[in-house]
Amino acid sequence: MAGILKERLFTPGPTPLLMEAQARTLTATLHHRTESFRQLMRETSGHLKYFYNTQNDVLIFSSSGTGAMEGAISNLVSPGERILVGTAGKFGERWLELARSYGLEAVKIETAYGHPLPIEEFDRRLRSEGSFRAVFIQATESSTGVSHDVEALGKLVQNYPETVLVVDAITGLGTTALEPDSWGLDVVIGGSQKALMIPPGLAFASVSEKAWNLIEKSKSPRYYFDFAKERKNQAKGETSYTPATTLVVSLHAALEYIRQVGRENLIENAATLALATREAARALELKLFAQSSPANALTAISAPEGLDSGAIVKEMRQRFGIIIANGQGTMKGKIFRLAHLGYYDMPDLFAALAALEITLNKAGHRCELGAGVRAAQDVYLKRRG
Ligand SMILES: Cc1ncc(COP(=O)(O)O)c(C=O)c1O
Repeated sequence: MAGILKERLFTPGPTPLLMEAQARTLTATLHHRTESFRQLMRETSGHLKYFYNTQNDVLIFSSSGTGAMEGAISNLVSPGERILVGTAGKFGERWLELARSYGLEAVKIETAYGHPLPIEEFDRRLRSEGSFRAVFIQATESSTGVSHDVEALGKLVQNYPETVLVVDAITGLGTTALEPDSWGLDVVIGGSQKALMIPPGLAFASVSEKAWNLIEKSKSPRYYFDFAKERKNQAKGETSYTPATTLVVSLHAALEYIRQVGRENLIENAATLALATREAARALELKLFAQSSPANALTAISAPEGLDSGAIVKEMRQRFGIIIANGQGTMKGKIFRLAHLGYYDMPDLFAALAALEITLNKAGHRCELGAGVRAAQDVYLKRRG
């Protein structure tokens, strides 16, 4: 290694940590069955509602995001019931795998990787194929860098009193303007290691009244992710089981920071970084993987002809300490992904793009040094003046 090499995360989770939030945990002496922790939990829940932009309950679980996804399935749907699942990438496929594990009949609406899900197809299926207990989708499909129109889907599902909409917004929250209450997003799933700028280990689920009514009637087995039990406890500032106390301390601090920055500004930050990255990619003659509706959370870029994206990921890491993400599953080797969610700023992006330009040239994709950075600078100046 030549000289100093700092590691910098540019992955769509875990994301760079907010140091203030990390530092808070060092001085926190905690027991979860104390008044001071209950107070912390109550405040954190209030802040989470702000982050989510909802008046619904937001439950906190000690698990990664997938735990709350599983909880949404087990709490809302009973064995043998039918669900409608939109899938356009690895995380949409996770809904299908979960449904299979619980013996549910999942009707899928699928579209090719790199494309957004056609909402009119959900309309058609809901009208013509009998009743569905729930509809599942991602706000942002992190494996492809595409966002889905959950507003249109929510407004559609609102017309069906016995059907709820579950949105995996693990990378959608804090990057996309969501209005869960007026759009009818009944359950919205989040995770700590994304726009919240803290380590992995907490999952969240907001739950609407419509969803609570369904939860009362549903019969799938559940234990740890028992939403009704958790709601009762969290109303008192308690959790059903021992929570990840230090992560709750970090979460509280990170949410205070986000309240200072402003939810809308956090989203705008991701949107500007994403736009700048797309413009930089074009300037470097790279193809975006998202054919339309690119997400703010991350940008997926196709590897240039004849190049394995793994080689770009490796070179970025070895040469510059910059950690970007390869494609997942069948997209491995074909795309690389650069994240914008959470604690990323414009200088981070300028640095990553400058490193990418060198990396691409070394790998044989000739591009003009500085062209990508300049495109990103132009976006910055246009949006921020
Ligand atoms: C859209 C989406 N859904 C689900 C997950 C899974 O979350 P976790 O790895 O926290 O279980 C991720 C993680 O990257 C994600 O981006």
